[in-house]
Amino acid sequence: MQKIIILDFGSQTTQLIGRRVRELDTFCEIVPYNKFPQGDDSVIGVILSGSPYSVHDPEAFKVDLSQFVGRIPVLGICYGAQFISYANGGKVEKADSREYGRANLQQFDAANPLFEGFVPNSQVWMSHGDTITAIPEDCKCIASTANVKYAAYASTKNPVWAVQFHPEVFHSVQGTQLLKNFVVNICGSKQDWSAASFVDTTVAELRAQVGNDRVILGLSGGVDSSVAAVLLNRAIGKNLTCIFVDHGMLRKNEFRDVMHDYECLGLNVIGVDASEKFFSDLAGVTDPEQKRKIIGRDFVEVFNAEAQKIKDAKWLAQGTIYPDRIESLNITGKVIKSHHNVGGLPKEMHLSLCEPLKWLFKDEVRRVGRQLGMPEHLITRHPFPGPGLAVRILGDITPEKVRILQDADDIYIHGLRDYKVKLSGEEARRVLAAGVPADMKDGEIEVSLYDQIWQAGTVLLSTVRSVGVMGDERTYEHPVALRAVTSTDAMTADWAHLPYDFMAKVSNEIINKVRGVNRVCYDISSKPPSTIEWE
Ligand code: XMP
Repeated sequence: MQKIIILDFGSQTTQLIGRRVRELDTFCEIVPYNKFPQGDDSVIGVILSGSPYSVHDPEAFKVDLSQFVGRIPVLGICYGAQFISYANGGKVEKADSREYGRANLQQFDAANPLFEGFVPNSQVWMSHGDTITAIPEDCKCIASTANVKYAAYASTKNPVWAVQFHPEVFHSVQGTQLLKNFVVNICGSKQDWSAASFVDTTVAELRAQVGNDRVILGLSGGVDSSVAAVLLNRAIGKNLTCIFVDHGMLRKNEFRDVMHDYECLGLNVIGVDASEKFFSDLAGVTDPEQKRKIIGRDFVEVFNAEAQKIKDAKWLAQGTIYPDRIESLNITGKVIKSHHNVGGLPKEMHLSLCEPLKWLFKDEVRRVGRQLGMPEHLITRHPFPGPGLAVRILGDITPEKVRILQDADDIYIHGLRDYKVKLSGEEARRVLAAGVPADMKDGEIEVSLYDQIWQAGTVLLSTVRSVGVMGDERTYEHPVALRAVTSTDAMTADWAHLPYDFMAKVSNEIINKVRGVNRVCYDISSKPPSTIEWE
């Protein structure tokens, strides 16, 4: 299959470049800057990402451009553009002031294929401290902004283009057009990477990979493991056995509802209610990391006990997705994110790992889920932490506290699903680009608050009590904190600006209906410095 290689020089937006290329129905791989796959004939183009470094830094990441220049088309973005210039006799200098934010392409070469379809003064997004002050001899300037003479340049000798701005970010209004011009028109992508083609090829690959072997998969109720299960089920049917462990700290009715969904999807699922074990092992434990350790250990124990009953299993399938595996570089060049999804199955079972979603971004997983006909509420489900409500109850955990939190959270989550908002313009575009199914009518779409949010949940502040009054009675009970954040990857997150009338309704309902709660707060902290979960 054709692919674009994205060389990662450590920019925060490298993954975004990958997602944009995939949105063009083109397969791409993000690899560390020094890992260009030489000799791979399926590579049709290379994109060099930005970087936190200046090309003049002694530690700056450098690459031998002759590996691909002159052989396949190349696009340098930001540092990538500066590096191509620097490595070919151009000049890169510290800019008078760091340029950050919107700019407009006041001049551009409309005849250059990179700018096909561009309108005058197209808005682009800049973020750079260095600037290119001279381009290599065999290059020509193809775009400028008010402050940046070499906003884009191209080689006259080789298929090489370079842009100082970031076409991958949303604020570069014609950024996707530029990437399309490069990927499709210049590199010749056939645009045949789609959810449908992914399902067809993956089902065939899975059949070839596992043959008649039995496969075990741990379900969590989340979108990744669910989509992986349905995909495997399509490939190997009853040879797949799924195990879904209830640790007792799932959302209200979640175990029951999700089991029902899985059964409707025709999955062969073993549901294990191990809540008593978890509650007893967690009794009196207040430290968040200790809670995580106990839950992790118990989970592996319960899962293993079930897995070992499936005697002839050869494979362990997991819903690992691409961002879990990308080796992103930090400025010291060390890998800062490694594969975190591997469970702890006993070695004596000799299981091989099968990860059918390992090339997909989250939004692609959702598209594949839709392609497989899965229900929308499973596909759009928010991420939920493995330890569940245990890290949303401050202090020790008891079944009663879990009950209080489940009831409050249920009101909140149903409220988010029921509350509809109308969006237009950029906001609507962003929601549609994330794959949320909504029909555009008169320039507007209607979506639920839930679908606009990355993740929402309720936290029981069970170590705190406050006074309230209900009827003629004084109350002395716990507050809950509502949390809702917007994010693309959970690495950073902003608190969501929920409408006041929604908050008023939810707060009222929780206090009136949930015994044990007499106060509702809304968490207005972003990440960093706060985290999404309270524990
Ligand atoms: P934080 O709280 O670190 O969370 O901002 C980032 C994302 O990770 C989820 N999360 C967890 N997921 N086990 C998990 O499987 C955990 O222990 C855990 N802690 C946090 C969190 O819900 C958010 O999506």
